[in-house]
This record gives sequence, C-alpha cells and structure tokens, in this order.
Amino acid sequence: VTNKENIVRAAVLTRYGDPLELVTDVEVVDPGDGMVRVRVAYCGICHSDLHMGGGLTPVPLIAGHEVSGVVAEVGPGVFDLKQGDRVIISPNPTCGRCDRCTRGHPSLCVRASGWMKGVLPDGTVPFRRGDTPVYRGNGIGAWTEQVIVDAFACVKIDDDVPLDIACLIGCGIQTGVGAVFNTAKVEPGSDVLVSGLGGVGLAIVQAAKVAGAASVLVADPVAKRREVALSLGATCAIDPTTQDVAAVARSEVGGVHYAFDAVGSPALVATGVRAARPGGAIIMVGSPMGDDALSEVHQGQLIVQEKRLLGSMLGSSHPSRDIPRILHLWRTNRLSLEAFGTQRRPLEEVNEGLDDLRQGVGVRTVLVIDEDAASSAS
Ligand SMILES: NC(=O)c1ccc[n+]([C@@H]2O[C@H](COP(=O)([O-])OP(=O)(O)OC[C@H]3O[C@@H](n4cnc5c(N)ncnc54)[C@H](O)[C@@H]3O)[C@@H](O)[C@H]2O)c1
Ligand SMILES: [Zn+2]
Ligand SMILES: [Zn+2]
Repeated sequence: VTNKENIVRAAVLTRYGDPLELVTDVEVVDPGDGMVRVRVAYCGICHSDLHMGGGLTPVPLIAGHEVSGVVAEVGPGVFDLKQGDRVIISPNPTCGRCDRCTRGHPSLCVRASGWMKGVLPDGTVPFRRGDTPVYRGNGIGAWTEQVIVDAFACVKIDDDVPLDIACLIGCGIQTGVGAVFNTAKVEPGSDVLVSGLGGVGLAIVQAAKVAGAASVLVADPVAKRREVALSLGATCAIDPTTQDVAAVARSEVGGVHYAFDAVGSPALVATGVRAARPGGAIIMVGSPMGDDALSEVHQGQLIVQEKRLLGSMLGSSHPSRDIPRILHLWRTNRLSLEAFGTQRRPLEEVNEGLDDLRQGVGVRTVLVIDEDAASSAS
C-alpha cells in the first residue's frame, strides 16, 4: 500500500486480449451502506478470470474473485464484521431477504445483479484511476490490495485456516462442492461422471466421494490431473482425446446418475446426456466461451428418459452455510484444500499465472497479493 491508504497496486485489464498491466495508482472507493473494505491477502486464478464475462464487463477492469483477506473498514449498517476479521469473500453476496434468496436460490441474490456490469450493488464503481472509472470482474475484482464488497459476501473464518488455501474456497471449491450437495444433491451409492479436472472439477470429485458416490468417473486430456483425481478417490480415469467418454460411462456402470460438465462446452453437455442413465441429471457448471447453443441435445431423449439439465451458479451456494461446511470437511480430513493450491506467484506475475491456467500447470495458481494483510488480523 502506498502512502495514501486507499491508493493501491492492481493488475488492470485495459483491452480484452491484452496482457494485464501492473499499476500503482488505483483508488479504492469508501465502503457505502452494507459494504466493507477488505485487505486482500491471497487470490486464486479461476478459469472464469480468462473469459471476464465474455467481454461483457466494461474495461478497464480488475479481475480476480477467489479471495481471502482481512477486514480493514466497515461501512454504515454492517453489524457482524469488524476491522481485523479474517474472511473468505464469496463472489455471490447472499442477503437472505430477496425473492431469490428466500425461494432457495441464494447464489442468484439480487445484490449480485451488477455482476456483469462490473459495478457495486448501488450501481457505482468500486475503483478509479484519476477520473477514469475502473470496473470489477466476476463480482469482486481482487487482483489488487483492497476491495470493496458486500458484507453479505464475507464469511469470517477461524485462525486455524491458512489464508493462502482458504482463498480457493471462495469460487472453485465452493462451486464444485455446492454443485454436488446443493444443485445435484448426489445420494450415497450414485455413479458420477466429472468432465474437466481443474479446481472446480476436483472439488466435484472430492464432494462426490463425501456424498457417498459408488463410482466417480473422471475425464480430462491432462494426464497429471487425471492422476490427481485418482489420488482424491476417483474410480476410473478417461482420456477424452482417445476414448468415447459416454461409451465408457455406459460400459463401466450402465450410465451415470450425475454427469457434471466442469469445462463449459455444449459438446460436453451432449456427452453428459449420452453418459447419463434414464432419470439421470446433467449438471452444467463450466461456463462456455462463445457459442453456447445446445444443438446436439435431443429434446425427445430428455423427455422419454426423464433426463434433467441443471444449471449451477456458484454451486447454488449460500456462502455463510457452505463455507463453514467445507471447512468442517477439511478439518475432519474428508476434503483436501491443499490438493488445489499447487503453486504461488506474486501479483507481478499474474500474466504468467494466467498462462499456468491455460496450460493446465498444477491445479491452481494462487497470487500472493499482500502477505502482511494476514498479520493485520485481530
Ligand atoms: N458455474 C459457476 O458458477 C462457475 C464457477 C467457477 C468456474 N466456472 C467455470 O467452470 C469451468 C472450470 O473452471 P476451472 O477454474 O476448474 O478451470 P480449469 O481451467 O482449471 O480446468 C478446466 C479443465 O478442463 C479440462 N478440459 C478441457 N477440455 C476438456 C474436455 N473436452 N474434456 C474433459 N476435460 C477437458 C482442462 O484440461 C482443464 O483441466 C470454467 O468454464 C469456469 O469458467 C463456473
Ligand atoms: Zn438476496
Ligand atoms: Zn471462479
């Protein structure tokens, strides 16, 4: 942090397709009603940071939405957080009172309606450079030293949880675990297929095991990631570049009860429909880039075989319910967080970190943004 407290370093995207630029003159606005200012300690690099809303969020923007940090300041009306609290920030705030929250869709809370526009719930921008507004990607914008977020998006965590792995819960792990427990509601004895073994897919694998899945078939072109999945309990690894995934699912287990797309492609949703047994569900977790029309899916098959297509936004999660649930599974050695955060880079190496993601290096790159933030916790 430079001499003025709310002027910070950040990685800024000025034009889609260009590398991010490291700057030191981003001004963070004051926290308004119900908002808090958080010092960012660590931030993971999630695949959704590559699409940045498919170009829908205006630039300049700051991406990054898998965050841990420490509360620096609370705005008016915030009663359950205070300066010094260690928190995980969820990209979806959950007010608990709007129509979506009260009808069981907490990840679609109206407080998140400015998500794609890159603005705060009241429509204002979170950052500026001089007179230029700077927007935020994927609901937070944390590749910077401070963020302004909804208090409802912050979940306080205990001292035993290291912030450098806690950050990954915010998006990838919460999404994968929630897709299993909340969206699909996988029951013991189920057969499960997971396509895509990044942070999201490997969280699905682990949660499916916790849910008592009888078999967890996994597919990813990257051999190392298939190995990680097997070490986390997957029962059968498929190379989609040489094998017909749906045919393997049918021959191994007679079709799966739940097929998860953790890549984001219409072709893989069609694969899931073919891999699912009658009455099965296809859970769409991956976000497609570009054309997302489901032209290969046969409506008749969905009807006569009662197959269900389910969209899953952030694992249909309620952060203040689901993040403690994930930490409980971690503390009782049923879910590894350590398996995800395989490499660290300073914020200066954010572009190299994005290359790690593109090339499938390790599982997740964690950006070290401000290690001193952790020591400012009360
Ligand atoms: N729905 C949500 O709320 C939500 C939240 C987080 C991420 N996402 C999306 O989920 C997807 C996964 O995110 P991630 O961060 O784990 O990504 P990632 O890049 O870490 O992992 C994606 C994996 O998919 C694999 N893959 C590519 N093509 C494949 C194929 N044909 N079959 C099987 N595997 C294939 C890649 O090798 C890679 O290992 C992305 O599309 C991301 O945008 C959605
Ligand atoms: Zn709400
Ligand atoms: Zn994400």
